[in-house]
Amino acid sequence: EQIEKNGYDHFMLKEIHEQPDAIKDTYRGRLLLNDGIIKMAGIEDNIERLTSAQRIIIVACGTSWHAGLVAEYIFEDLIRIPVEVEYASEFRYRNPVITPNDVVIAISQSGETADTLAAIKLAKEKGAFVFGVCNVVGSSIARETHAGAYTHAGPEIGVASTKAFTTQITVLSLIALKLAQFKGMLSASQLREYIAEMEAIPAKVEECLKVDAHVKYISSMYKDSPNFLYLGRGYNFPVALEGALKLKEISYIHAEGYPAAEMKHGPIALIDEHMPVVVIATKRGHYEKVLSNIQEIKSRKAKIIAVVTKGDTEVREMADHVIEVPETLEGLTPLITTIPLQLLSYHIAVMRECNVDQPRNLAKSVTVE
Ligand code: G6P
Repeated sequence: EQIEKNGYDHFMLKEIHEQPDAIKDTYRGRLLLNDGIIKMAGIEDNIERLTSAQRIIIVACGTSWHAGLVAEYIFEDLIRIPVEVEYASEFRYRNPVITPNDVVIAISQSGETADTLAAIKLAKEKGAFVFGVCNVVGSSIARETHAGAYTHAGPEIGVASTKAFTTQITVLSLIALKLAQFKGMLSASQLREYIAEMEAIPAKVEECLKVDAHVKYISSMYKDSPNFLYLGRGYNFPVALEGALKLKEISYIHAEGYPAAEMKHGPIALIDEHMPVVVIATKRGHYEKVLSNIQEIKSRKAKIIAVVTKGDTEVREMADHVIEVPETLEGLTPLITTIPLQLLSYHIAVMRECNVDQPRNLAKSVTVE
């Protein structure tokens, strides 16, 4: 096992550090910068069916559901098809409206999650076209779907998902770009800008990993907090959910992720000087709005840990701690802002002497209801 961990203390930390390569492996061969082309056989073979969808329904569980939420923003932004993101367990038992004009995208790292598999079967019965995004080759979901695209994250051992999440977002971005290209919704130069930025992501993720020592220091200050709040807007809202989930899963600290503006409708009642609030406040996307949310938190004396774009000065004045990350396109931001939150949960869990790779009560793959 020590050999498999490749010198890291835990699989989770190894997998966090594998993300630059995992993301690269996921887009390798699919992005052709010079030609401004995206190659994905599963999409190309079904492109008419996919682009004529009246609606896209994404079904998934856990972290994969969070990747689905990111995809909702990307798809609606780029291809202007309405998207719904569903917990597979709710969808399958709700008597959902599904028509043959719908496209269902199932996202699953393991490809074996029972509820997701059942949701797929239901969607197929109702005549929808079902596309899978899986990591495990030949898995049940990969076989059950009409077509699909694999993430190439490699085996993920840590129960808390890390590289599976970022590679899911990578594949879903490529799918959106491919469909947008076919629908003529992106100019050649816009597409090239996206492709070039995607190719810059692994190096930027590498840069994010360098904040490790600073995040470890922050972790040592807040490791005993009984509660955490995570806030973000737009593309960073699912990142806030995912950050909170990671902390819950491995450190057993109660954490909630919320859209920053929604905090007024409840969570703000919990905010006092004892509440650490992690705010994702990167430059692109609702920055000014997030600044005013930070002011509201600050006036209630919470401790603010902010993830900001490199060089930011405004948030720094208000936050107790800032974690700098490189700038990227708004649509690719989750690939960057997720990284420090993974590290934060990891270090807090280690400091609390939790079983990072195999947290209590959790399974890597939930094959029963
Ligand atoms: C379990 C795992 C999570 C994962 C979820 C969905 O709860 O612990 O990490 O996100 O299942 O799994 P899937 O394999 O379908 O992505």
